[in-house]
Amino acid sequence: MESVTDYERQLAADMLETMYEARGIGLAATQVNKGVRVVVMDLSEGRDEPRFFINPEIVDRSGSQTCEEGCLSVPGIYAEVERAEKVTIRALDLDGEAFELEADGLLAVCIQHEIDHLDGKVFVDYLSPLKRRMVEKRLRKQQRAAKV
Ligand code: NI
Repeated sequence: MESVTDYERQLAADMLETMYEARGIGLAATQVNKGVRVVVMDLSEGRDEPRFFINPEIVDRSGSQTCEEGCLSVPGIYAEVERAEKVTIRALDLDGEAFELEADGLLAVCIQHEIDHLDGKVFVDYLSPLKRRMVEKRLRKQQRAAKV
């Protein structure tokens, strides 16, 4: 994506609303079935500091950290995932301007999690086969429960 159009701006605004309603801290366009590389996030306590990443890329990573993650696409499931401690991200903002951001801590975890979504990956993919089977079993139960 070389430029940002009204389509991405509207999508980002809609995604932000969806994310706030779901009380999430991040949302990727793939989670709302849109095949564009758009991510919205807000890690602030006041829920009033939205961040937008169009076509985000990790250009540098270092260290490692383990954090308990959850995901709006896998409700009710939380698991520890190991990721880079620090990442440098290159992306476009809503005006189509390129920017670079160095992130660590939760911000680094969240952006790695969201970029994974853009690449069709969810955090449970990182779990051991045994843990993943437990998660899948729980998800199937939830889905059955939701049908009644
Ligand atoms: Ni997620």
